[in-house]
Amino acid sequence: MPKREVPDVFPSAVETSALLELAEETLLRHAGPIDPVLVDRASGTLIWDREGKEYLDFTSGQLCATFGHNPAPLREAILASFTRTVHSSSLLLSEEVIRLGERLLALLPPELSKVTLLSTGSEATEVALKAAKMATGRWESVGVSRSYHGHTAGAAAVTFLPRRLGTGPAPSGVHALPAPYCFRCPIDAQYPDCGFACIDVGMTAVDVQRTGEVAACIIEPILSTGGMLKPPAGYLAHLRARCDERGIQLIIDEAQTGLGRTGDMFAFESDDIVPDIVALSKSLGGGFPLAAVAMTDNIAEGAERNGFRFLTSHMNEPSMAMIGLTMLALARRHVEEQSATRQGERLESGLGTLAQDHEIIGDIRGRGLLLGIEFVTDRSTLEPAPDAAVAVWRACRERGLLVQVVSENVWRIAPPLTVDDDEIDRSLSIVHESLTEFESR
Ligand SMILES: Cc1ncc(COP(=O)(O)O)c(C=O)c1O
Repeated sequence: MPKREVPDVFPSAVETSALLELAEETLLRHAGPIDPVLVDRASGTLIWDREGKEYLDFTSGQLCATFGHNPAPLREAILASFTRTVHSSSLLLSEEVIRLGERLLALLPPELSKVTLLSTGSEATEVALKAAKMATGRWESVGVSRSYHGHTAGAAAVTFLPRRLGTGPAPSGVHALPAPYCFRCPIDAQYPDCGFACIDVGMTAVDVQRTGEVAACIIEPILSTGGMLKPPAGYLAHLRARCDERGIQLIIDEAQTGLGRTGDMFAFESDDIVPDIVALSKSLGGGFPLAAVAMTDNIAEGAERNGFRFLTSHMNEPSMAMIGLTMLALARRHVEEQSATRQGERLESGLGTLAQDHEIIGDIRGRGLLLGIEFVTDRSTLEPAPDAAVAVWRACRERGLLVQVVSENVWRIAPPLTVDDDEIDRSLSIVHESLTEFESR
């Protein structure tokens, strides 16, 4: 391939179409076709493409811009920390790293007393599982059908979505509970009379399938990527009890839900449980790669005693820790101000009003500013309507609203916690117009 001229300054004067051609030619497709929108800049709830078109970003980027794109405190933290130290050895600590650990633990239940700082959510899943296994001396694990915990090998093994396919056998000893999908209950039961039969049926199946002891059970408090499944009240407490009966460590993956997105600092708080391990990422770095895993003293002590080792190049970066401290301060402010609860109620109630006019809205669910819509062909049959989900999503994009289709017929709507009333109302008008256009086809 001939060498290309690469400009020194961006954005360059090159046409968007030429850049897209270059992308087609050179970039591996890792998530379907290349998206024709090329991002130019972002601020608050908004992003602009290279042609200057403005979008309401109700995806918060990849759910990392939880306190808006490029908020001033983040920009200041970047300047301050990057001018001092961009990178240091993963084995050398700094005050920022130690303080971030301290602050994080102060937000969590006191039982969680040890923490480690990492880069990504997938890595956090790996560490959570590894620590649980090494502390207990057990090696099997349990996840939940339709959950997502990352793309690295260990995380993919407890991810029960089609994206785990294609690279040969997963490790043995990994089991899945039926999803808490009340809108389409996989065991055809009805909450609350079901008494969380999905957990009991699943755990009984694990009891007979296992060939060793189960170390850990991992779950997202809201199964987001697998279809915005919000388990009913009491689900996590029931799961906690069933894990306790078996000596299974409970890992709560707060990648998407943590730091205020659902209203509480952590989504597990709504069920009043204490997890054994909590994994955090996304919002913690506000767009930078920063993750953390907190665990009980018992697990940390057991893992260390049994020779726990984990070392990656970007653990314990002082610059990332400084950013994390800033994100935690923003999270505390937004939880105090009840931003996600307040704005989530406005958005959810607006969507509820739209559902009165639009039959293809089958279900609206979620909590705070992590909401989903499930599309159906009609409400009596509940037949999934993936074509509608994609067509209306596309029409919204045309009108300047970004949401995500997370599973075939389900949208995730997750604007930054800084979203204002006017932006919510604009998004609702766009959804209404797009639904009306679809229905009149
Ligand atoms: C619940 C959950 N866990 C883990 C991950 C993986 O995080 P990362 O993409 O940072 O590796 C994600 C990413 O979307 C996630 O939603």
